[in-house]
Amino acid sequence: MVNVINNQVTNVETDALLVGLYEESKEEQQVYQSLNEVLDGHLEELVKQGDIHNAYGKVSKVHTFGNADAKRVYFVGLGKKDELDVSRFRKVMGKAFKQVNSDQLTGATVALESFTEDLTFAEAIGEAFVMSTYQLETYHTDRENKGFLSDLTVISGEEGVKQAIEVGLALGEGTNSARHLVNLPGNLLTASDLAAYAENIAHKHGMEIEIFEKEQIEELGMGALLAVNQGSKEPPRFIVMKYQGKAEWSDPVALVGKGITFDTGGYSLKGKEGIIGMKMDMGGAASVLGAMDAIGQIKPEENVLCLVPSTDNMISGDAFKPDDVIVSMSGKTIEVRNTDAEGRLALADAVTYANQQGASRIIDVATLTGGVVVALGDEMTGAMTNNGEWFDQVYEASEQAGELIWELPYHDVFKKKVRTSHIADLNNSPGRKGHAVLAGCFVGEFVGDTPWVHLDIAGTAMSESEHDLGPKGPTGVMVRTLAKTIMNQK
Ligand code: BES
Ligand code: ZN
Ligand code: ZN
Repeated sequence: MVNVINNQVTNVETDALLVGLYEESKEEQQVYQSLNEVLDGHLEELVKQGDIHNAYGKVSKVHTFGNADAKRVYFVGLGKKDELDVSRFRKVMGKAFKQVNSDQLTGATVALESFTEDLTFAEAIGEAFVMSTYQLETYHTDRENKGFLSDLTVISGEEGVKQAIEVGLALGEGTNSARHLVNLPGNLLTASDLAAYAENIAHKHGMEIEIFEKEQIEELGMGALLAVNQGSKEPPRFIVMKYQGKAEWSDPVALVGKGITFDTGGYSLKGKEGIIGMKMDMGGAASVLGAMDAIGQIKPEENVLCLVPSTDNMISGDAFKPDDVIVSMSGKTIEVRNTDAEGRLALADAVTYANQQGASRIIDVATLTGGVVVALGDEMTGAMTNNGEWFDQVYEASEQAGELIWELPYHDVFKKKVRTSHIADLNNSPGRKGHAVLAGCFVGEFVGDTPWVHLDIAGTAMSESEHDLGPKGPTGVMVRTLAKTIMNQK
């Protein structure tokens, strides 16, 4: 529940009042002044003695002992005013909300007047509120619910604050829905389950959705996706979801997500260590579906075509093998050198479909390569593009979202390599050297001239530890970047 009120900060009844403190000139901060008065000057003393911090990232809790209508005040250290951007603000708010939650309080009131009038900061409060305290599902029989914080109040007299917070909440919820999907084990999330989940999102927002089953995928000639599915008992699904934000359905932006529900590597089998965690190989699908969930709520004026090719990558007597030659939907033939390079095969057909449907711009998101993890680590998503302008738009959105991306070279020297097969048009795995880039180049062979951005989230889809905006595990990365890219389209 969210509320925006325009009260004096000293007479808001709440369990937890969150007040931002900049390092410089506390005296000029009105909220600080009022609270100092309420506390008979003790606040000043506490700051002096170092019990309340204004350094960035510090959260200090003070009880008001009945002197104010708020039971506790959480001072949120914002650091230096000119160093505070929206990403840093979002994180520190996440940290503060986490603390309120772990103090088992259900409501938090944020005094926005002490921060800024910039509405993106209000949006960030909404994002931080739902993302930071999110709990992943577990299957412990004695599981306890540790989610307390559920009500958000913001004190502000600014126009549009409530709407901005609601946008933030929608973005955060979309992120959490991606986290939930990535967290589901392979036995509980098959391609059909993923499709059912997508149907729920579509119905919730009145979006059009079509789920192609195996027969239709065959009719469409998606030979690359079918090859990956060949060894599985679980049939594949191809999800097509449409959000229409313009009067006419034309020139949609295509959001394409890799939906491998479990990647064993196939006959190019992963090792017993490397295979663990491969339930997350539908992270790209989760990101695009999470973005659709947010978009459905925010209702931007853009048309969006969301596509998810989905299957697991399994072994059996029927499975595809290295040396196989397959025919993709585009007609291009592919020599399979490595069955573990399956994501690019599924994406190839999805991107071809996007083009056939008249996509005007494409973004694909995929947990595509271990190479990108080596190159950029787990806090930066690897990006590639055939169009600088389109990349700039995605990059700008990623900056607004605080999700780091870095461009890798879409260069002829790599493009040449994916075309080196003595037996087919393309080679799905020309070697280890630069293989994050080779994977992107492979997908690039199917996008034609359509402006395209490729996002490899193999490193960023999971976090090894708890962080200010969420728990250890699935991050829901790129949900907000994708949604903001769409929201920024005019
Ligand atoms: N799903 C993996 C990539 C991956 C690795 C995701 C680690 C998350 C964490 C992908 O299908 C894969 O196996 N890629 C291979 C490509 C290689 C065979 C060219 C890889 O990265 O080793
Ligand atoms: Zn693989
Ligand atoms: Zn994979």
